[in-house]
Amino acid sequence: MILGFDMTSETGHKLVESLDLGVDPRAIKKEVRRLVTPKSVSEYRAKISSKANLPEGVILDPAAGSGGQLLAYSKYLDRPCAAVELSPQRADFCAYQFSKASNNSSVITICGDGTDAQGVMSIVESKTGQTSICMLHVDPARPMDTQKHAVSEMQPSLSVLLESWSEYIHVGPDGPAMTLDLSPRLARQQMLEIEDIVLAVFPRTSMTWEWLSRGGGRVDRLCLQTGPLADIGSASRSVRLWNDGSFSTLHDDGDILDASDMGWSDYKLCLGDLVALIDPVIPKSGLRGVFEECAGYARGELVWIGKSERRPLALLHEEIHSGSEVRPFVVTQGVVVGRMASKLDLMSIDSLASLAMENNIATIQVRCSLEPRLHKRITDRLRQILGQIHGSPGFLIEDGGSEDLVLCKELEV
Ligand SMILES: C[S@@+](CC[C@H](N)C(=O)[O-])C[C@H]1O[C@@H](n2cnc3c(N)ncnc32)[C@H](O)[C@@H]1O
Repeated sequence: MILGFDMTSETGHKLVESLDLGVDPRAIKKEVRRLVTPKSVSEYRAKISSKANLPEGVILDPAAGSGGQLLAYSKYLDRPCAAVELSPQRADFCAYQFSKASNNSSVITICGDGTDAQGVMSIVESKTGQTSICMLHVDPARPMDTQKHAVSEMQPSLSVLLESWSEYIHVGPDGPAMTLDLSPRLARQQMLEIEDIVLAVFPRTSMTWEWLSRGGGRVDRLCLQTGPLADIGSASRSVRLWNDGSFSTLHDDGDILDASDMGWSDYKLCLGDLVALIDPVIPKSGLRGVFEECAGYARGELVWIGKSERRPLALLHEEIHSGSEVRPFVVTQGVVVGRMASKLDLMSIDSLASLAMENNIATIQVRCSLEPRLHKRITDRLRQILGQIHGSPGFLIEDGGSEDLVLCKELEV
């Protein structure tokens, strides 16, 4: 049973304390799953925030959802934390989660409107004795298709939220410490709008956009880090987060990012070409030029093939070695050994398999678009045919300058 205690502010904010949820938590978990920040991402954020020079005060999540992010902050940072959630059911779940965690004593849950800083602070102050916010984390609810929606449709509204909290959040020389967790599908124009919203309330704030990948061939998260959480002098940072919680980063050094006209080549791949499949966070974050420099090339020297946004390719002069700063952002690299003029389907598997056998390739990772309903059948069939072969791993990609598919033999790692 949830006890909504008598601590209710004049504005109707209510402190939620949980002894027992009363309903099966799995049912609520299912309901909030779509919104929840993956634990590995929450923990990563908490780890990097713990390295920042944060002032004293409370860490606030004014749109906390299930509260997972705040739980991670409370684990890694020695600060009291406050979660605010509008939906009573989610606020109950949030409080329940905190009560189950071993380090719960420093986290409070308030059910109410996170944009009402005064109402929230009256409870925060009486519970924690703190009068200021040292860091704000917000992951606003957003319409499903954010490409076509306005920034103003995020809930809570960023401009209203920041305006309301400006009185309480600590603002240092680089601005306030904030993590704005946004949709990776935001358009450039919307990113600029968000920067304007921040600067209108906190002028001269340092800001770094962070593009995070967990290696699944897409950008998993996009967030704007500000103040002490930003990389001072860097507008953009790419992060590759690994399953074991470790991570690799690449950021710009204050130089102009990729010019928007850096473009993509329609180069037709040739036998013997050395290609690398690059994590999409690199082009998305505008760090192709930085990638080139860190890989030992001049800016603009590499040929980039970007037929599919999810699978950008770079044509290399030589292999990228494991010690290189950019190696974490190379999904795979290999030499072109053959091409297939037909698309990949149940009819063409056999010719692909013979091409693989001719080149001593024993496994093929499909790195080109393929109808999802066919994916399992095709990969199972390939595994069946090539199962007895001893050889190297290979991968199949789309060509830049034709409709062909190109088979590559992976380089030894
Ligand atoms: C994207 S979810 C946050 C998910 C969270 N990061 C997690 O891991 O569970 C956004 C949440 O903001 C809440 N919300 C929207 N407007 C709000 C407001 N004005 N005040 C407080 N919460 C609000 C929604 O109910 C929703 O649960």
